[in-house]
Amino acid sequence: MMRITQRTHTIMRQIWVSYPGPPEVLVLKEAAAPELQPSSVLIESKAIGINFADVLARMGRYPQAPPTPCVPGFEVAGIVKAVGTAVRSVRAGDRVVAISRFGGYSSEIAADQDLVFKIPDLLTFEQATTLPVNYLTALLLVEKTCNVNEGESVLVHSAAGGVGLALVELCKLKRAKITALASKEKHAFLMDRGATHCIDSHDPTALTRFTEDHESLKWDAIFDSRGGGSWKQSFSQLNTFGRLGVFGFSDLVQSSSESVGLHSKKLGEAHWFAFDAYDLVSEAKSIGGFNLATLWHRREFIEALPRYMEQLFSYFSRGEIRPHVGASFALEEASAAHRHLQSRESIGKIVLLP
Ligand SMILES: NC(=O)c1ccc[n+]([C@@H]2O[C@H](COP(=O)([O-])OP(=O)(O)OC[C@H]3O[C@@H](n4cnc5c(N)ncnc54)[C@H](OP(=O)(O)O)[C@@H]3O)[C@@H](O)[C@H]2O)c1
Repeated sequence: MMRITQRTHTIMRQIWVSYPGPPEVLVLKEAAAPELQPSSVLIESKAIGINFADVLARMGRYPQAPPTPCVPGFEVAGIVKAVGTAVRSVRAGDRVVAISRFGGYSSEIAADQDLVFKIPDLLTFEQATTLPVNYLTALLLVEKTCNVNEGESVLVHSAAGGVGLALVELCKLKRAKITALASKEKHAFLMDRGATHCIDSHDPTALTRFTEDHESLKWDAIFDSRGGGSWKQSFSQLNTFGRLGVFGFSDLVQSSSESVGLHSKKLGEAHWFAFDAYDLVSEAKSIGGFNLATLWHRREFIEALPRYMEQLFSYFSRGEIRPHVGASFALEEASAAHRHLQSRESIGKIVLLP
């Protein structure tokens, strides 16, 4: 096994957010390759996952993001180039996926060994980037936050997106009845992936009309990544003992900062997010929050990660999930990749290829 501790002198390419703003603020720069620490793994990136949080971070609206200028990017799949002296779990040449937390938009990364996982032979690098954020988020929302049980009814917002598709597949494994909200053009794809019903996410009255047409249908679990106003509507659409999983605020991308009264570091204080706890008591409903970007700094979560990743690898190997990569862009086309995500036309994962 090759183990090195000294700095490697190669040059890597990275995408930086120069200052908060539109997709054009993403710029390509060259830098010295990262220094390898005893417990880190040097990875040559083959595919880099793009997440909605990268868009929020680029806009200066993601509370956990480092100050600009910074390199975004939560996950990278690639080949191990070298390992630090204390690393035992992987070796040079292994195909891996890694959680970079930030800094993933790089042709090389040095990741902590606890956040690097060997991937199954049949899983492509592009597909592997769907696991550390999209499928992991969906797994924990389905099994812990909302605890979906066999035969329950669930509503999934942004259902054809990265996390949304993973939620649809994992709820299907629970034999849940799935209502999917997405652009009309994506409905056929979602029905093929296991949705029972689809609703047009671009028609503001479609959800209300759908429930009226189905005898005031309500749901046992709702997965809502849109934020404030949508969370409140979702809460009212829960069955008794229903669980609302709140885990994103994509509506911020279309709102002006004035309309939600926010400054990125004070996001949680905005009135937009307020709920009355008495309503939870009187209506016998629950709201559960989830945020990977805070969990992956907690020791107990890092210790549980290999088990979660193994569960996802097993689902893949048994054909129970089909990670879908809808679009790929060269690393230097990161601005175009962000524009594509914001266009609302994407299905599944978008990746950067270094
Ligand atoms: N808390 C966590 O740990 C965590 C982890 C991962 C993701 N998330 C959140 O989950 C959500 C989905 O993330 P993702 O990375 O999988 O992205 P994604 O769903 O692939 O994002 C693209 C899709 O979102 C829908 N969308 C809804 N509002 C949008 C808007 N204002 N602008 C652009 N698209 C919008 C669009 O679908 P339609 O037009 O078809 O509806 C679009 O195609 C995001 O809110 C993200 O922040 C949270």
